[in-house]
Amino acid sequence: MKRWHKLLIAGVCIGMSIILISGCGTSKKDDRRIIRVGHNQATDHPTNIALMEFEEYIESKLGDKYNVEVYPSELLGSQTDMVQLTQTGAIDFCVASNSILETFSENYTLFNMPFLFDTTQAYHAAMDDPKIIEPIFESTKQAGFEAVTWIDAGTRNFYTVSKPIEKPEDLKGLKIRVQQSPTNVQMMELLGGSATPMGFGEVYTALQSKVIDGAENNEMALTSNGHGDVCKYYSYNMHQMIPDILIGNVAFLEELSKEEREIFEEGFELVNRVERKEWVKAVAAAKEKAQNEQGVTFLYPDTKPFQEICMPMHDSMLKQYPDLKPIYEKIQSHNAANPATAE
Ligand code: GCU
Repeated sequence: MKRWHKLLIAGVCIGMSIILISGCGTSKKDDRRIIRVGHNQATDHPTNIALMEFEEYIESKLGDKYNVEVYPSELLGSQTDMVQLTQTGAIDFCVASNSILETFSENYTLFNMPFLFDTTQAYHAAMDDPKIIEPIFESTKQAGFEAVTWIDAGTRNFYTVSKPIEKPEDLKGLKIRVQQSPTNVQMMELLGGSATPMGFGEVYTALQSKVIDGAENNEMALTSNGHGDVCKYYSYNMHQMIPDILIGNVAFLEELSKEEREIFEEGFELVNRVERKEWVKAVAAAKEKAQNEQGVTFLYPDTKPFQEICMPMHDSMLKQYPDLKPIYEKIQSHNAANPATAE
């Protein structure tokens, strides 16, 4: 073979290798920073709808630098797992129930108190009040995460496979799933049921296999999580309005430039706004589906006997965590401004 011929073949081989290594030379390498956001709801849930809008918004403004990926349905683990992943920065954001956050910071105990808010209006006004949420949202910075917005999760009520709950005594002898928080276990015990703490993703199977007799949650759990296929009684005893909280890794948030942070803050507000709008529609649709397709009976018991049993928890919480008192009092002023008659 002539020398120039050999050189030509060697040149072609080197060229081919470069093309193969660089991914055929046509597609550009995506070196955008991936932002992982995890949550435990299904894709049709208001939380997911709001986070998809967050993804779209951030990418419309900063899409050349960031690629937001939303992982629904506990794909990244249970809420407790996801909070830990957010703490260490393995993921950037997750949605956790305020109940779960109580085990990471005692300050979150406050929003888990049963019958804390008198009305939905008082609940929303309090959660929109920076003087109430900021001290709590910022209190976990040392632990590696901070709360960036709250998400409406409606009102929590009892629902059971076969025994209608009309008064606290009806809970006696029943195993009721609660979230993994000391406050929720204590509440359940005071009300007379047997508290069975477990992660959200395990509840359907536990109901179906009769490991538990019931649970407590908002109406979406009946449809979005299928609990209404097994539980036929849902009682509006209204024991808690527990928000979900979007939390972010502190190191990630602090590395953002001032301009980027502003855009992210707008994105967090968007999550709150979109979810609240979607929530109203989703709950109405869930109730209708549960009643008409799943055969769930909705009951409207007198909520006072439930409330009377739980109220002493407020005083013991304030005795245990006196620093929360000024915030608790601010919540009471929102209750006074939004009384039950306004509902
Ligand atoms: C609601 C809430 C979730 C929570 C779940 C539960 O669905 O929005 O954040 O995980 O209740 O009871 O665990």
